[in-house]
Amino acid sequence: MKVGVVGMGTMGAGIAQVSVTAGHETVGREVELALAERGRATIERYLGRAVEKGRMGEGERDQALGRLSLTTSLDDLDDCDLVIEAIVEELDAKRELFRELDRLTRGDAVLATNTSALSVTEIAEATQHPERVVGMHFFNPAPVLPLVEIVKAERSSDDAVQTAYDWAMAAGKQPVKCNDTPGFIVNRILIPLLNDCVRVLDEASVGPEDMDKAMTNGAGWPMGPCALVDLVGIDIHVHASEALHAKLGEPRMAPPERLVQMQAEGKLGRKSGEGFYRYD
Ligand code: 3HC
Repeated sequence: MKVGVVGMGTMGAGIAQVSVTAGHETVGREVELALAERGRATIERYLGRAVEKGRMGEGERDQALGRLSLTTSLDDLDDCDLVIEAIVEELDAKRELFRELDRLTRGDAVLATNTSALSVTEIAEATQHPERVVGMHFFNPAPVLPLVEIVKAERSSDDAVQTAYDWAMAAGKQPVKCNDTPGFIVNRILIPLLNDCVRVLDEASVGPEDMDKAMTNGAGWPMGPCALVDLVGIDIHVHASEALHAKLGEPRMAPPERLVQMQAEGKLGRKSGEGFYRYD
C-alpha cells in the first residue's frame, strides 16, 4: 500500500514511523519542508534507538527510512491507497484538507483522520465521498502504544473501516472499532480524568511530582497525569477538553483554569520545553 501522512508533527511523524516500519512507501506532507525534515529526524532517532537495542537491523532501518519521502505538495498524495491526516485540531482546516484530498486522490483510496475529539462525520461531510472517510486515532507515542481506534462515521462504508482496521493490524497495532461519539473510547474517559487530576493539585495542595508519584504508585499508571499532559501537549489537551465539553456539557470536561493559564504563558509541555516539568 502507498500511504500519505498529512502533518508531520509529533503524531504524524509517529504514524509515518509505524507506516514505513510496516513496509509501506510513505509520503509525509508538511506546509514547510523544514517541518517535514524535523519529523523525519525524529523517526531516524527512534529507529536508531531500535537498532542500538537490537530490535532492528541496520539494513532494516535504512530500508524503512528509504520508504519515507517528504513533500509540501498535496498533489504528491494522488496515488496513495490510504491517507492519514494529523494536522491541527481545527475543524475548518480539516474539512478544507479533506475536500482537497477527496478531489485529488483515487476514488478507492481511504481517507482517515487522527482527530482526538472532533467529529469524524463533520469532517467527512466536507467531501463528495464521505463513505471513504474514517477515523484512525493513534495514541502518543504512536510507535509505542498499540491502540488505534478505528472510527466509523455516519456514512463510512464497511469496506473503508475494514481497510483501516486491517492496515493497523498488519502494522502490529491493536485496533478497536467504535462509533463516532465525542472522544470515542479513550479520550471520553481519559480527558475528564486528567482534568480531575489537575484540579486535585489545587484542592489537595500537592505538587505535580507528588501527584505523579501518587497515581503511578497508587493507581498503577505507567506515567503520572502531569507528565502525561506534558507529553500530550497542554494545547492539544485543552482543545480536546473544550471540544468534549462543547458536545457533552459535563463540567469536568471543561479545561481547568490552570491549564488554560499555562497555555497562555506558552507552557505547552515537552514540545515547548516547559509544562508541569522542564525539559532540556
Ligand atoms: N516515539 C518512538 N518511540 C518512543 C517514543 C516516541 N515518541 N517515546 C518513547 N519511545 C520508546 C523509547 O525509545 C523506549 O524504547 P527503548 O527501550 O528502546 O529506548 C520505549 O518507548 C519506552 O520508553 P522509555 O523507556 O523512555 O519510558 P517508559 O518505559 O516509561 O515508557 C511511555 C514511556 C511509553 C510513554 C509510557 O510511560 C506510557 O505508555 N505512558 C502512557 C502514555 C499514554 O497514556 N499515552 C496516551 C496519551 S492520550 C493520547 O495520545 C490521545 C490524544 O488524542 C490526546
